[in-house]
Amino acid sequence: MTAALLLALLAAGAEGDPDADRYARMRATMVREQIAARGVRDAHVLDALRRVPRHRFVPDDQVAFAYEDRALPIGQGQTISQPYVVAVMTEALALEPGDHVLEIGTGSAYQAAVLAQLVKRVTTIEIVPELAQEAGERLAALGYENVEVVTGDGFAGWPPHAPYDAIIVTAAPAEVPPPLLEQLAVGGRLVIPVGTDHQELRVLTRTERGLETRTLFPVRFVPFTRDPEPPPRDPGASSREHAPTPPRGSKEP
Ligand SMILES: C[S@@+](CC[C@H](N)C(=O)[O-])C[C@H]1O[C@@H](n2cnc3c(N)ncnc32)[C@H](O)[C@@H]1O
Repeated sequence: MTAALLLALLAAGAEGDPDADRYARMRATMVREQIAARGVRDAHVLDALRRVPRHRFVPDDQVAFAYEDRALPIGQGQTISQPYVVAVMTEALALEPGDHVLEIGTGSAYQAAVLAQLVKRVTTIEIVPELAQEAGERLAALGYENVEVVTGDGFAGWPPHAPYDAIIVTAAPAEVPPPLLEQLAVGGRLVIPVGTDHQELRVLTRTERGLETRTLFPVRFVPFTRDPEPPPRDPGASSREHAPTPPRGSKEP
């Protein structure tokens, strides 16, 4: 390799993106001003948010807004969550490097990519097949090898790999789906927005004695939808239709 080529590659950064340095600076500003300034302290979480190229997880017409303090539309009436909310939820999961995390609501796979920086393995479930497909392709293109994308209704969790050290839900059900509690290991944490008109972010921890719940703050997530079809015998083979969700635009705070 010539010195000139090496320099060009270094300038492009690890993302293979000629604007990588500019985006890295935008991420640093995002973390400092939107996230650390609001009280997120976990250095590993802050570092993960500095590393994941959020602009690669949004549609082309949203790239200019990728590092703004808000949720953005990603198609199919769904959103990529606000960076601050991603940071708070990730910190609340209290992750360890060896953990296996289950995410319900893959969306763009940005949250999954943040998790993938912090733990050994991530399984993420998305009910909209088109989003699941795009998410899998995006993660592969970006080199994430420890994330598995599953297409289907996450209400039932993902029993093949249970129990999980942590579970995160990024769409709001009216109540916590019982299968998710069953698939939480002792000591495991579940972070989930709950409610319909009024939603709140809850953290549930499974202990030897049962569940401990604390409430963080009010939030506004897209609704948790349900697959009208019965679960398949082999959930790994799922690629099913779903009830379309009306367009909602950016919903999280
Ligand atoms: C706010 S978006 C998720 C943002 C995503 N975590 C990201 O980083 O881009 C919520 C996602 O949950 C999905 N969803 C809603 N109900 C679901 C269900 N029952 N099972 C799996 N995914 C669901 C929606 O289709 C949508 O993509």
